[in-house]
Amino acid sequence: MIEQCSIINLPRVNDPRGNLTFVEGGNHIPFDISRVYYLYDVPGGAERGGHAHKELHQLIIAMSGSFDIHLDDGHTKKTVHLNRSYQGLYVCPMIWRDIDNFSSGAVCMALASEYYDELDYYRDYQQFIIDVQKNTK
Ligand code: TYD
Repeated sequence: MIEQCSIINLPRVNDPRGNLTFVEGGNHIPFDISRVYYLYDVPGGAERGGHAHKELHQLIIAMSGSFDIHLDDGHTKKTVHLNRSYQGLYVCPMIWRDIDNFSSGAVCMALASEYYDELDYYRDYQQFIIDVQKNTK
């Protein structure tokens, strides 16, 4: 459900020497962290994402720069602009996501609840919609 996907404000330790933010799996976010990956060197105009996950929970953070995340649960859509390294967008399972409008130098980090598993992906939007409709019957 798209209502579950919301911004989580992470702890901040502000310091004149530079600020610090930390994330504890199962504490600040509603899952344990098994994997971290990040997108970087994204060329202007590129789009990432273009898929949904069956079981995976994620927290997406703009470590540097900014980008837009378009979420779609098969019924409702919403767009979130990420541009703060102390904020993460929680994305629950069964959410189609597209990421675009990357600023120059943007780094998009994802904390993920599971190891990489291609079988957990929907890469076909129509198949995703068919399964959403099955699950809501
Ligand atoms: P994909 O998840 O489609 O990227 P995006 O972040 O744009 O959604 O992954 C792109 C490719 O990288 C794909 O071939 C699978 C590979 N990949 C891994 O091998 N391990 C990973 O943890 C991830 C996220 C992707």
